[in-house]
Amino acid sequence: MQYREFGHSGVKLSRIGLGCFSMSGAYGVANDAESIATIHRAMERGVNLLDTSARYGGGHNHLLIGQAIQGRRDKVFIHSKTGTIRDENNRSVAEGSGAPDRLREICELSLKNLGVDYLDAMCQSRVDPTIPIEDSVGAVARLVEEGKVRFIGLSEAAPDTVRRAATVHPIVSLQYEYSLWTRDVEEGHRDACDELGMALMAYAPLGYGFLAGVVDKAGSQSEDDIRGKFPRFYEENFAANRERVALLEALAADKGVTAAQIAIAWVLAQNDNVFPIPGCKSRNHIDENLDAVEVSLTPEEIARFDEIFPKGVAAGTRYPPGGMQRVNL
Ligand SMILES: NC(=O)c1ccc[n+]([C@@H]2O[C@H](COP(=O)([O-])OP(=O)(O)OC[C@H]3O[C@@H](n4cnc5c(N)ncnc54)[C@H](OP(=O)(O)O)[C@@H]3O)[C@@H](O)[C@H]2O)c1
Repeated sequence: MQYREFGHSGVKLSRIGLGCFSMSGAYGVANDAESIATIHRAMERGVNLLDTSARYGGGHNHLLIGQAIQGRRDKVFIHSKTGTIRDENNRSVAEGSGAPDRLREICELSLKNLGVDYLDAMCQSRVDPTIPIEDSVGAVARLVEEGKVRFIGLSEAAPDTVRRAATVHPIVSLQYEYSLWTRDVEEGHRDACDELGMALMAYAPLGYGFLAGVVDKAGSQSEDDIRGKFPRFYEENFAANRERVALLEALAADKGVTAAQIAIAWVLAQNDNVFPIPGCKSRNHIDENLDAVEVSLTPEEIARFDEIFPKGVAAGTRYPPGGMQRVNL
């Protein structure tokens, strides 16, 4: 494993972190025993960065991670998001999610469910359009003063919001979707991270599994798999996206690696302060993904990926309209 300082934290973290979302049923049924074994395997192989959220599985993710890290708390950096409020139809609502009182409550709940005394990073999942970012970050800064949180992160925030937030308290990282088919961070977010000495956590580097080649049919997701709601997986967009992934798979085969490894290696190659956090819930996948740290890409190969996945090429937006309204605020 390779390690780099995580933003300005002074803490060295593994270049590849483990995203724990799918362990709580996001993409269909998960198996707790295998998920815990996956976390242990990741740690044995040097991963010390776990990404989670108080909302994943309605708290299940935190309980699971708490179980997995018992007796090993000091070996992991827990990057924990706040999630958003849910309405009566279980839809995510940003409004009110960044209120100071709610952030404190979520912090307390996270500590309780994880069974820990502090969060290494507490990250606001979405910017709340009704609360100035200064107020939200100020609330988390008080949790830092109390020793409940070490560092503050943001997710899906616009570059200027990140700059405003950093006037209140240093922001250690920005978490944003970043992959071969989602390159929005190249529109100023990456520069803001460089400017402020922050890490850029690249989430969904495998395109929710699409870039790994495991999704081979439109509508193949089960009822409880949220990807069925993502436009890039819709019938009308599927074939165009699948065609590009087939080119990626062919390139990977020529190189003797897998499409998932190429997708992760491409993110790693973007900058030293970028930390991809591919998500998985099985030991087979974690082994494959961590081996991506050894995959080096030549300038010619990177140029070829730019041809296959020029900016904006993906058919369909990354989230449905409601979700798109809550990003880049
Ligand atoms: N800030 C945010 O708004 C936000 C949003 C989404 C996600 N995230 C974070 O980012 C992490 C990563 O994103 P993600 O999990 O949504 O998407 P992702 O990492 O792009 O893809 C995960 C999917 O790829 C599959 N997969 C993983 N490794 C594979 C391999 N080697 N071969 C084939 N398939 C493979 C996984 O299957 P298995 O699970 O079956 O292994 C899962 O279905 C999440 O876990 C979460 O921590 C943050």
